[in-house]
Amino acid sequence: MTWLVILLCFLGYMAAHIADISVQNQSLMDNELINLLLKLRNEEFYDTLLVYGKDCEFHSVIKNVDVAVVLVSDSMNFEWNFSSLTLILSCGPDIDNGGPNSTSIKLQRNRRLVLLKEDFQPSNICNIYTQKEQYNIALVRENFTKSKSIYTCRYFQDPNVDEVNLSGTKPIFIEQFQNMKGKAIRIVPDLLPPRVMLYQDANDGELKMIGYVANLITNFAQKVNATLQLDFLKPSTSITEISRMAKDDELDMGITLEASLNTSNLETSSYPYLLTSYCLMVQVPAKFPYNLVYALIVDPLVLGIIFVLFLLLSVLLIYSQKMSWQDLSVANILLNDKSLRGLLGQSFPFPLNASKKLRLIFTILCFASIMLTTMYEAYLQSFFTNPPSEPEICSFQDVGSYNRRIAMSALEVNGLIKTNNSHFREIRMDDLEIFDNMPECYELRDAFNLSYNYVVTGDRWRSYAEQQTLFKEPVFYFARDLCFSRLIFLSVPLRRHLPYRHLFDEHMMQQHEFGFVNYWMSHSFFDMVRLGLTSLKDLSRPLAYTPSLLMDDISWIMKIYLAAIVLCVFCFLLEIGVDKWKRWMKFRNLQILNTC
Ligand SMILES: *[C@@H]1O[C@H](CO)[C@@H](O)[C@H](O)[C@H]1NC(C)=O
Ligand SMILES: *[C@@H]1O[C@H](CO)[C@@H](O)[C@H](O)[C@H]1NC(C)=O
Ligand SMILES: *[C@@H]1O[C@H](CO)[C@@H](O)[C@H](O)[C@H]1NC(C)=O
Ligand SMILES: *[C@@H]1O[C@H](CO)[C@@H](O)[C@H](O)[C@H]1NC(C)=O
Ligand SMILES: *[C@@H]1O[C@H](CO)[C@@H](O)[C@H](O)[C@H]1NC(C)=O
Ligand SMILES: *[C@@H]1O[C@H](CO)[C@@H](O)[C@H](O)[C@H]1NC(C)=O
Ligand SMILES: *[C@@H]1O[C@H](CO)[C@@H](O)[C@H](O)[C@H]1NC(C)=O
Ligand SMILES: *[C@@H]1O[C@H](CO)[C@@H](O)[C@H](O)[C@H]1NC(C)=O
Ligand SMILES: *[C@@H]1O[C@H](CO)[C@@H](O)[C@H](O)[C@H]1NC(C)=O
Repeated sequence: MTWLVILLCFLGYMAAHIADISVQNQSLMDNELINLLLKLRNEEFYDTLLVYGKDCEFHSVIKNVDVAVVLVSDSMNFEWNFSSLTLILSCGPDIDNGGPNSTSIKLQRNRRLVLLKEDFQPSNICNIYTQKEQYNIALVRENFTKSKSIYTCRYFQDPNVDEVNLSGTKPIFIEQFQNMKGKAIRIVPDLLPPRVMLYQDANDGELKMIGYVANLITNFAQKVNATLQLDFLKPSTSITEISRMAKDDELDMGITLEASLNTSNLETSSYPYLLTSYCLMVQVPAKFPYNLVYALIVDPLVLGIIFVLFLLLSVLLIYSQKMSWQDLSVANILLNDKSLRGLLGQSFPFPLNASKKLRLIFTILCFASIMLTTMYEAYLQSFFTNPPSEPEICSFQDVGSYNRRIAMSALEVNGLIKTNNSHFREIRMDDLEIFDNMPECYELRDAFNLSYNYVVTGDRWRSYAEQQTLFKEPVFYFARDLCFSRLIFLSVPLRRHLPYRHLFDEHMMQQHEFGFVNYWMSHSFFDMVRLGLTSLKDLSRPLAYTPSLLMDDISWIMKIYLAAIVLCVFCFLLEIGVDKWKRWMKFRNLQILNTC
């Protein structure tokens, strides 16, 4: 066992050393270059070397270097699947052309050391690389052994080349985009509040942006000392148009959020900025009117149970009064006045010398009456103060069954169809109202128009929720059970070869880390109010007078009562008439008998 442990320790020790660059057997030139590679490795770690170009000094150096090496002779036409901690060694100033965009994007940020013939001008080479959007470039001449000087391209400086001494302490590569010295970033905003809102500053009259996406970008520009160049010709552009412009390199950053539903746009978008849900925004169901409350609490099943209870109590009362079934008849059971009055909570005559059993039954009757009357009283009063609501939408299938269709823009519908969203397929097409004009659909939603239900992302809902706190009653609710997706990634469109993409992603995460994004989002509604994009008005259109019970609502009870009275009178008259007629018949029969 011990020897195994010792062997493992030895292997671990060896492995730790293998990662180092070993200097074994080399010429003088190799020695200097290896020192340079060591210096670069100290500046920023790399674990892979990509050697590009025809045979040169680098090829002999790498034989003595214990780092993974990828050799590429002429074309970069392959998918870069190796480490991203790569140092590129380039033999000669040729720039790799062709190759997939994914490879060039992955390698764009990597440092590149170029070996030059003695007669090349470093500044020209830097310009060539700059045009190809390669910024991390250092150059060494073939007489590097003697001069020991390294030329490094500095994009934001004049002259654009810096000479660095191998033995000096000056860094060879620096993060150039840390300070962009006022360089312009081309932006195109989509002006969808509350993400991006344009306004004119009262102090200096400049056009400025606010909103939780706009703030992210203005802060970034400030951080890297850049200026924002707004495309004034068409300040409001749709998301699809901005996406297309990002793909065609017509802008640097789009000030909007696009859903990364499709992996093909990962190259032209940032790291996800917001993770949010994409759900329905459904109208709060209406309350039942007051005149229906009584009908609601009269449940046939409960009435049936009460009726059975009444019959049972009647039978028990009849039996226990004389301890016999003598008085048992349908009329006595159905029209038992003690049982009826007892259940209705009315007083009724209590026999003077009642037996124990009879008293027990009266106790049960009284208890039942207290339970019934208090239950209905409580039911009725609580429903009158707060009437129950109509049923909510519970699934995508019955979205249409409440006469409220879903208003959606054609863009969103296409996105959901393209991604084969399983929830979306459950909705019948008849239940959708598709708007070709996206802003029109959003206007209806912003106005809380009650003709439709809507689709909303979680971040947008936050400001609606904030706005609804001002309403007398909320109009819509965020249906957490009715989501097309509970997790969508929203990212900012970026140009494919944006050289400061990594700085932007880092900035974005820092803003989240410090809680700025959350703060901006919670303030977005009040920013909208401040800029006049929405108002503090109550859009719930509360009814000025909520009709309570009117005489009209109970008139039908009176009418039925009148009809019943009329029927009773009729029956009474009929009874008297029948009696009179019987007596008259008897009298006549007697007369006939007498005459006989
Ligand atoms: C060092 O390299 C030379 C040729 O450049 C070779 O002759 C010699 O054997 C090598 N030595 C070792 C120890 O590899
Ligand atoms: C890189 O990965 C892709 C997809 O995973 C594959 O098609 C390609 O052959 C790989 N390239 C290399 C050089 O391994
Ligand atoms: C690569 O990017 C260029 C623009 O930078 C674009 O025109 C081209 O279509 C992209 N190629 C692929 C395969 O996406
Ligand atoms: C190296 O070459 C450059 C360009 O040819 C020349 O200007 C420089 O003096 C050379 N350095 C040495 C030490 O020979
Ligand atoms: C580089 O630094 C060394 C030692 O610090 C110094 O002797 C040498 O003159 C420097 N060379 C240049 C070109 O600055
Ligand atoms: C920012 O850029 C401006 C040029 O637009 C420059 O004058 C200024 O010095 C830069 N700020 C910093 C801190 O470098
Ligand atoms: C992704 O987008 C491309 C072009 O925009 C489209 O051709 C492709 O079908 C999309 N893929 C999916 C899965 O939506
Ligand atoms: C969509 O998904 C369902 C199952 O989830 C599958 O049966 C159907 O073929 C898919 N349709 C498309 C166009 O991918
Ligand atoms: C709501 O939208 C419908 C259809 O677009 C329209 O007819 C109606 O006037 C709107 N209602 C309000 C209160 O704006």
